[in-house]
Amino acid sequence: MSKPVILTGLRANNDLHIGNYFGALLPLIDMAKNHADEYEINLFVPDLHSFTTPIDHAQLHGQIMHNLKLFVAAGLPLDHPNIHVYRQSYVPAHSELTWILDCFTGMGEMRRMTQFKDKAGLAGFLRELEEMLKGNSPETLTPNFYNDFIAKYSALQAQEGAARIGLFNYPVLMAADILLYGAMYVPVGDDQTQHLEFARDIATRMNNQFGELFTVPKAVKEQHEFFGKEQGLRIKDLSDPSRKMSKSDETGKGIIFLGDSPAEAAKKVMSATTDSENVVHYDMAKQPGVSNLLQILALARGEELDDVVNKYDGQTRYGDLKKDVAASVSTMLTDFQAKLAQVDESALMAKLEADEKQMNEVANATLLRVQQAVGLRAKA
Ligand code: TRP
Repeated sequence: MSKPVILTGLRANNDLHIGNYFGALLPLIDMAKNHADEYEINLFVPDLHSFTTPIDHAQLHGQIMHNLKLFVAAGLPLDHPNIHVYRQSYVPAHSELTWILDCFTGMGEMRRMTQFKDKAGLAGFLRELEEMLKGNSPETLTPNFYNDFIAKYSALQAQEGAARIGLFNYPVLMAADILLYGAMYVPVGDDQTQHLEFARDIATRMNNQFGELFTVPKAVKEQHEFFGKEQGLRIKDLSDPSRKMSKSDETGKGIIFLGDSPAEAAKKVMSATTDSENVVHYDMAKQPGVSNLLQILALARGEELDDVVNKYDGQTRYGDLKKDVAASVSTMLTDFQAKLAQVDESALMAKLEADEKQMNEVANATLLRVQQAVGLRAKA
């Protein structure tokens, strides 16, 4: 590809909520539109990453297509020649490069990844261990402590043992996603910066051993400078505004999904947690619930936060604010769902097929260079 490449993967395994929509999807689509004339923009669905932890496979294919439609409804342009939309598993070079990179990756490098440690139980184990050790010196450790430790350690081994190798290997596949296209800029959330650093490490390592094989993506700091640190706002959970809106809230009461009916969404807004100050101020630390509502209101209306805050500041009836938020969110969902129903599925399929063909060419050219370097293919 001739222009510098911006690349990112859009996960498709969960129903998207307005936190994803305002915090990630819309900013990403804006970014793509703003840069598409000077960069190649690769936006792909990392479908092979979708089952590193167990999922309902009967739902996966439908979910991927549904999410692609959501992206189109949110404004992702299908007709820009520099914006490429594709599904990872339709470009087999991703899997093939992953294997080769695996053979240059240390077990320790992967084991240190925070996301793996969290999901495989290591992070929890270490927290518990720290708790157990508090106030104990080696002389005061009792047989109880010892038994407790052994029990916890066995539990850890069981949990880590049950974690899939795909979860462990996840960052290597992600590195392949990035390196196949020589991507320079990779907008990712904070939870993914460690994986991006790994992509830089493995690219540099392979370049040192084999000569200039890969473009090394920019360091995280430069990524932030390029994209601006304020990439999207963090919408908070409605029932617990101390944490961000996230699919891990199992009750779903604090989350507004893009597929919620407008009435359902309005109900969730009306029962949002506020505080007992009884006066509207924008103050995330002291009044997170009210501040979150103001933020949602601004985003749903497409207005500046400052303007919304000025209008409501000092009001004393939270019920009035909630009613306005509920009305704006309902309108926004009604509009969005109408757009979703109008998405031209055959245009989407045609775009995917054309881009997947083109991306196979780009990715295969990189893969061949790597295969030649490691001795799997004769040098050109
Ligand atoms: N791991 C990313 C996430 O969880 C998704 C992803 C997969 C990705 N491959 C990528 C992001 C390559 C950027 C580049 O959000």
